[in-house]
Amino acid sequence: MATKKNCGKFQLSKRDDWETPLDLWRQIAAFLPPKSRIWQPFYYNGSCKAYMEQLGHQVVHEEQDFFSSQPPPGYLLCDNPPFSKRRAILRHLVVTLDISFILIVPMSTLATAYFHDLVAHANSSQAFKVIIPHRRMRFGNARSDPPFACVWLAYKCPFLAPPCQQLLFI
Ligand SMILES: C[S@@+](CC[C@H](N)C(=O)[O-])C[C@H]1O[C@@H](n2cnc3c(N)ncnc32)[C@H](O)[C@@H]1O
Repeated sequence: MATKKNCGKFQLSKRDDWETPLDLWRQIAAFLPPKSRIWQPFYYNGSCKAYMEQLGHQVVHEEQDFFSSQPPPGYLLCDNPPFSKRRAILRHLVVTLDISFILIVPMSTLATAYFHDLVAHANSSQAFKVIIPHRRMRFGNARSDPPFACVWLAYKCPFLAPPCQQLLFI
């Protein structure tokens, strides 16, 4: 299996290196069943595993290339992906793997043609849910935070809310 440092045709970009802080994990953990099994395939410094374990979840988080990794069976992908690759990541998750996930994405992702294509591909208007924080997400680096809003985008997560409720505000 390819490591993240040698991840096939995908270049790594420093711009994608953001640590997700504990308060954001706490935000999404409030929606997860207790003691969930969580897969976090996007590796930066390993802190996201420690944070989710602190919140009572069991985590798989290894420094391997996401695109050549097999999802651990029975685990829910819940992570902050490299935004520069979000189009390929979303396509891989919905079209190739068709597995449940919750990802942080820039809010603008929802207005892209490729996201609309994925909604059509999923063939159910209930497949996607969006959790919209009332405050802009901030990340843990010393560098400035992104100048755009982010949301939690969920796919095939029936535990999130009643089926009719696709927009959740927190
Ligand atoms: C926004 S950071 C989030 C890191 C961590 N999951 C967190 O939440 O703190 C996304 C990370 O994914 C890594 N990454 C980029 N391409 C990847 C790939 N193909 N497979 C696994 N990780 C990748 C980047 O190097 C980057 O550090």
